[in-house]
Amino acid sequence: MRVHVRIKRFNPEGEAKPYWADYDVEADPLDRVLDTLHHIKWHVDGTLALRRSCAHGICGSDTMLINGRNRLACKVLIKDLGRRITVEPMRGLPVIKDLVVDMEPFFAQYRAVLPYLVNHDPPPQRERPQSPEERARYDDTTKCILCAACSTSCPIYWGAGGYVGPAAIVNAHRFIFDSRDQAGEERLDILAERSGVFRCRTIFNCTDACPRGIEVTRAIQEVKRALLGRL
Ligand code: FES
Repeated sequence: MRVHVRIKRFNPEGEAKPYWADYDVEADPLDRVLDTLHHIKWHVDGTLALRRSCAHGICGSDTMLINGRNRLACKVLIKDLGRRITVEPMRGLPVIKDLVVDMEPFFAQYRAVLPYLVNHDPPPQRERPQSPEERARYDDTTKCILCAACSTSCPIYWGAGGYVGPAAIVNAHRFIFDSRDQAGEERLDILAERSGVFRCRTIFNCTDACPRGIEVTRAIQEVKRALLGRL
């Protein structure tokens, strides 16, 4: 089938502002958007910049706005979009070039919530045991692949308030509710700050955007409740 692909392009090194570039290309209905972008880059216009790695929905590196929604380009089929496709970089992060954004602000927010197990007890001889119920408590938030689809779909995140964003809260949740971890209170202190969890206005864009099906808004609400429970 013939498809018309509009891509928002911008090279801050030399261009004053973003512009739309249009490409008419052949695509198989079962191609992914990533295949079509590869076709454009490899056969039509080699200057197009995009980021991807695994091409199988695992690494989270090819999040972009596809027909107005944050999606992984490697998980969206052409047949589900029709003949007119628009592709834009994620919002809320600086564009480096075309579809490639600077992820460093996002990863700085992720690092700020201590996204690792903290346990000061002497190391056990074997593993630290955990019941199936204790493991299930945070199972949903272990699925995050740090693609930034949730954070960059959130209007609060786009603002200038420095909101830490849904992805950082999801990764804090993953450890706050882990029975083996001992830094939950420290993480809650971080998320109680002005840039933290109470900036969320329960818009649900994050849950809609997550390619892993994580109930992001629910996780944020659980962290809010944990904070309110300390009052
Ligand atoms: S390229 Fe890895 S998730 Fe799409």
